[in-house]
Amino acid sequence: MEDPHRNVELKALDPDPEGTLACALALTGVADHGILRQRDTYFAVAEGRLKLREETPGEAHLIAYARPDDPAVRVSAYRLAPAPDPGAMRAALTASLGVRVVVDKARRLLLWHDVRIHLDTVAGLGSFIELEAVAPPESDLSAEHAKVAHLREILGIEDGSLREGSYSDALLPAPDPELLRLAREAVGRAYAPYSGFGVGAAVRTTDGRRYAGTNVENAAFPQGQCAEASALGAMVAGGGGRVAEVVVAAAGAAECAPCGGCRQRLHEFAAGDVPVHLIDLERVRRRTTLGELLPLAFGPETMR
Ligand code: THU
Repeated sequence: MEDPHRNVELKALDPDPEGTLACALALTGVADHGILRQRDTYFAVAEGRLKLREETPGEAHLIAYARPDDPAVRVSAYRLAPAPDPGAMRAALTASLGVRVVVDKARRLLLWHDVRIHLDTVAGLGSFIELEAVAPPESDLSAEHAKVAHLREILGIEDGSLREGSYSDALLPAPDPELLRLAREAVGRAYAPYSGFGVGAAVRTTDGRRYAGTNVENAAFPQGQCAEASALGAMVAGGGGRVAEVVVAAAGAAECAPCGGCRQRLHEFAAGDVPVHLIDLERVRRRTTLGELLPLAFGPETMR
């Protein structure tokens, strides 16, 4: 398989788009490529991201990329395939994968020494600047990091304006802050003397109630219970209902996704489009859905 292309990139909120444009146009050696209208359709895939980019003026491409671990300045690896019939491709991928979100934007594109400067106005989100230093295959990326750092300084991009994650994530419904808080609080209350791995889970019902739970281990190991099972038990004891949102929290360095058994437990009370947020004590690490976590599920509907 061909190696992916690589960029060193950053994204930041732009409080002064006119000032930034003037500053970027004044760079020596900059080329202004004008305004592109871009519509990105993100498909529902389990690993990484897959989007169809339709561009006017320009041509459509299918773009696959690894989901970066979201530091402010990041390296992204991506694959690009021309899409000569974007309508047919969109229909085929929508029918088989489903659409996660559509991002519409106007992009002023400038090029400076192989760095793409994107001045973006994104529908529903506002104005942003992106820097993407495109790396040749043999690069150790130091030159690309240096170019991005240099432009960042000239354009006055402050730490506080940097944005992690993609536009597509920012357009998804925001996680319920109270649910995040409850799940994090539950991590600290875990009874996990054997694994030392505390997990907190919280569910919000369709009628707005919230229940949290934590893992409860046992000296007879198989008797231990996961945090999700505890949260669902609290929900049932509190009146039952349907789940509208799930948060799973853990303090570790890796994302803590619900175990297979808990995906099944959640499926009893939640539809496939219910958002599941995997978080640590500081940030939301991944937004997924129960349907993505448990495709082809067996559930109450199977037995009807
Ligand atoms: N654990 C959960 O609470 N939820 C999950 O979905 C994954 C695992 C707990 C169970 C056990 O107490 C500890 O994590 C280590 O497996």
